[in-house]
Amino acid sequence: MEQLLSQIQQYKQEMLATKATNKDELEAFRIKYLGTKGLVKTIMGEMKNVAPEKKKEAGQLLNEFKIFAEELYAGMSAAIDNTTTVQVQTIDSSLPGDPLPLGGRHPISMVHNKIISIFQRLGFSVAEGPEIEDDWHNFTALNLPENHPARDMQDTFYISQNPDWLLRTHTSSVQIREMEKGVLPLRIICPGRVYRNETISARAHCFFHQVEGLYIAENVSFADLKQTLYFFVQEMFGDKVKIRFRPSYFPFTEPSAEMDISCLICGGEGCSVCKRTGWVEILGCGMVHPNVLENCNIDSKKYTGFAFGMGIERITMLLYQVKDLRLFSENDLRFLKQFTSAI
Ligand code: PHE
Repeated sequence: MEQLLSQIQQYKQEMLATKATNKDELEAFRIKYLGTKGLVKTIMGEMKNVAPEKKKEAGQLLNEFKIFAEELYAGMSAAIDNTTTVQVQTIDSSLPGDPLPLGGRHPISMVHNKIISIFQRLGFSVAEGPEIEDDWHNFTALNLPENHPARDMQDTFYISQNPDWLLRTHTSSVQIREMEKGVLPLRIICPGRVYRNETISARAHCFFHQVEGLYIAENVSFADLKQTLYFFVQEMFGDKVKIRFRPSYFPFTEPSAEMDISCLICGGEGCSVCKRTGWVEILGCGMVHPNVLENCNIDSKKYTGFAFGMGIERITMLLYQVKDLRLFSENDLRFLKQFTSAI
């Protein structure tokens, strides 16, 4: 027992004298004292030589010694780790930072913004209105009285609580709201989401986005309409693109037309996108019907106006050769990430 005590004292002093300052010295300490063949284990083996009545006391002594060795080791180990961490943490502030991931605009928003900026340069201002409309603004005021067959041209979502409410089928409803304010001349574009009860496919969706335009003043003519739209097309698609007008029918315009542009893909030669015609339709337009002006208390003898309406999805599809309309509303990042550059 005496011997054991002095042996422990001696080891303790030896250990305290050891100052491990790096990982190698620390490992040597561990092997010497705490390893499977280390001194702590060996001295533990002395227990068997201790007289039975002293075993308890000896056990305590040896246990304390073991804890002493382990704590000493842990202390040195922490000290060494700290120095290493400090070294690793040394920061090189001259290195370039990690780039922050940046989101991009949705292609529909990009084209929407571009269309608006083109018309703003021509003096048009932006007007917006509600997506839930009443029958008057969406249909009746636009020369589409109840039971007018042309109401079938746009499959409408009605709101079941109130038969007078519907999801607007075009932003022409905003034009009515603006005309009703009675401030003339009026030069506005109305961008926004519209809804039609169509089966969803590559070419049709139950909602899409429009920009409609309206100009009302004295002596506005079809020539003004043509020139405005021609400017728009050149700014949007480039100055090589040609336009043509075909007679058409809309209840709210007379005369009415649809405008085509020469196919961007084949340049008018004929391809699958333009169905071999060399032309693609991009919008509807016409001179505002006198009934529409009168419905909004505008003197149709004094004032004339033109209106046009286009789908943003369609313009975007033509610009970027997107073949499926559904891609715009699926939020698939693999698709959206391709539209990073500003147009
Ligand atoms: N409102 C029409 C539509 O949504 C487009 C249009 C607007 C046509 C103005 C002519 C004049 O189909």
